[in-house]
Amino acid sequence: MEIQKVGVVGCGLMGSGIAQVVATSGLEVVVREVNDELLEKGFKMIERSLAKLVEKSQLTEVERKNTLSRLKPTTNLDDLKDSDLIIEAVTENSKLKKEVFQQLDTLCPKQTIFASNTSSISITELAAVTGRPQRFVGLHFMNPVPLMKLVEVIRTIVTEEEIFAQMVKFVQGLGKEPVRTWDRVGFIVNRLLIPYLLDAIRTLEEGSGSITDIDKAIHLGLNHPMGPFTLMDFIGLDTTLYIAEVMFEEYREPRFAPPPLLRRLVTAGWHGRKTGRGFYDYSDPKNPKPVNFQLT
Ligand code: CAA
Repeated sequence: MEIQKVGVVGCGLMGSGIAQVVATSGLEVVVREVNDELLEKGFKMIERSLAKLVEKSQLTEVERKNTLSRLKPTTNLDDLKDSDLIIEAVTENSKLKKEVFQQLDTLCPKQTIFASNTSSISITELAAVTGRPQRFVGLHFMNPVPLMKLVEVIRTIVTEEEIFAQMVKFVQGLGKEPVRTWDRVGFIVNRLLIPYLLDAIRTLEEGSGSITDIDKAIHLGLNHPMGPFTLMDFIGLDTTLYIAEVMFEEYREPRFAPPPLLRRLVTAGWHGRKTGRGFYDYSDPKNPKPVNFQLT
């Protein structure tokens, strides 16, 4: 079965990016959000991103228009039932994701392939709430989706080999680079990224360096595009904490334990760039200032 029509559930930061790149690759996409307001917000992100890509000559004006014409917004999950593949990208919440997949399982014919963009929840656990675990994979896109080349393609012990291979090909068809991985919490990227980010907070708390110096050391010393604090603010501190908690719950190893400062920041509502404050203050977005956590 060839993938021609794709359903995307969720039109937030990740869902909108996924819908955009799938539509740009030439496939029809139906995107579902829970209400018109969120749908509109998601489509604004897509329009901005496409305009930026045209501005940078990474996309032609015709490709931009064609991409938009292939995207169908909806608030009704029913409209996704003719999709060959459905990619779920709702909030990182296990209960919510399971509810979505249970509903989709009753709506869609048996051959529809299901994929989750979860960054930390077990794919096996999500697949188990459906009657088609053999046609269920993880497709973990990186943020910002339109710019990042990598997609982790995740299989469980139940996923059919043929479906897994088809999903690897699907990702290549999007112009992305797949890596194949098993269903282990954190897959490959977060398995390595999260302990590193948590260690950056511990390095700060030990007094080895300031936020800006630790960021600068990694940015210029290792040629990473962003230092760990800039990256955490970009990913979202709530998301970083959530992934760390799921990883700690799974492995029970101190390296995955979220440091208290991260928890305090999230409790205070300082979730990074999206809330205007995290390890940096984004009052002037072009010139973020590090927040001082020391008593003076
Ligand atoms: N679509 C189109 N353009 C976009 C965009 C999008 N979605 N998001 C940002 N841009 C544009 C910006 O508008 C900006 O444009 P201008 O240059 O005109 O201002 C440009 O991209 C950013 O350009 P920069 O010069 O600032 O930076 P860059 O081009 O060198 O790269 C970046 C930007 C790709 C985000 C780079 O900083 C980077 O790679 N950062 C690290 C990102 C990363 O590590 N992502 C993975 C996070 S972990 C994850 O996703 C997994 C998880 O589960 C947590």
